Amino acid sequence: MYQSMTTPLIEMRDIYKSFPGHRRGSPIQALRGVSLSLQRGETLAIIGESGCGKTTLGHIMARMSAPDRGQILFDGIDVTRPRRRQRNALRRKIQMVLQDSGAAFNPFWRVGSALRAPLKIIRHANPTQRAQEVLEAVGLPLSVMHQFPQELSGGQRQRLNIARALTIAPELLIADEPTSALDVSVQARIIQLLADLNTQHHLSMVVITHNLATVPYLTRTVAIMYLGRIVEWGASDDVLYAPRHPYTRLLIDSLPGRRGRRAAPPMGEVPSPVHPPPGCAFHPRCVRAQSICREIMPELSGASLSPRREACHFPLDG
Ligand SMILES: Nc1ncnc2c1ncn2[C@@H]1O[C@H](COP(=O)(O)OP(=O)(O)OP(=O)(O)O)[C@@H](O)[C@H]1O
Ligand code: SF4
Ligand SMILES: [Mg+2]
Repeated sequence: MYQSMTTPLIEMRDIYKSFPGHRRGSPIQALRGVSLSLQRGETLAIIGESGCGKTTLGHIMARMSAPDRGQILFDGIDVTRPRRRQRNALRRKIQMVLQDSGAAFNPFWRVGSALRAPLKIIRHANPTQRAQEVLEAVGLPLSVMHQFPQELSGGQRQRLNIARALTIAPELLIADEPTSALDVSVQARIIQLLADLNTQHHLSMVVITHNLATVPYLTRTVAIMYLGRIVEWGASDDVLYAPRHPYTRLLIDSLPGRRGRRAAPPMGEVPSPVHPPPGCAFHPRCVRAQSICREIMPELSGASLSPRREACHFPLDG
């Protein structure tokens, strides 16, 4: 089928996902109408506080779980409810490095065997050669092939997680908090590695993180999430240096080590995703809130493909 240059690699339309609540209580509304798209070769960061739905969105994007509502297109083809063959094909095209993937490797398998296993499943012509290629791509010495995963450092293990995701040459890599378990100095090198994979191998990438300090170095576009919705979207530089949504402003001002301009504001409590506040879910924490904010949920401004969008009745000047 002919695909135009502008067909996104992946597109998500109005995605909803809930989980059963505690003791037959109300459900947890993890995603409440998320729409986004990513062009081939592009990079997107998904940012927000703990519990805002980042991992849930990543799992649905990687087609590891199904949305309750909404539509997902990959390369212009509807893959919302894939049949088995389509699902297997998608598993090769989309790979996710999972959050807390420290224990992802079988401790009884040497690294080489672990990397070759998925290649054997797809009957790759030369699994050993491919395993060496990906180790090189992530900057690990070939000698790790003979080691056990627990013999590697935290940074090396995360490189290995990325290597494993790359073995079967995915078109889209989703990395969920790829640096959160690592020392600061190691974090920077992993960020550099991911950036290199994008520029050198044109790998399309979604990086999920709560650490917005790393984003300008890593991704071209950023999506800020709050309680299951995207509240601001745009080029990373624009959003991080001139935010329009008060929540983005709050996140930036509370970055540790930010000097000067203003004192770090109190972050306040994130409301429960079981009963998100009506209207703009951010209103209980927002210094700009007016009565309309408590009643009417602001939609993302602009057309769905516009480069800069925010969901706020009274956006900042940026
Ligand atoms: N399998 C599940 N069963 C029940 N509730 C879940 C499940 N997965 C996620 N949730 C809930 O859905 C909400 C969103 O969770 P999610 O893990 O997507 O957030 P997150 O943004 O990735 O958070 P973190 O930064 O802590 O990783 C949370 O309230 C979480 O408790
Ligand atoms: S809509 Fe209102 S409450 Fe929500 S962020 Fe904008 S000003 Fe604040
Ligand atoms: Mg998460």
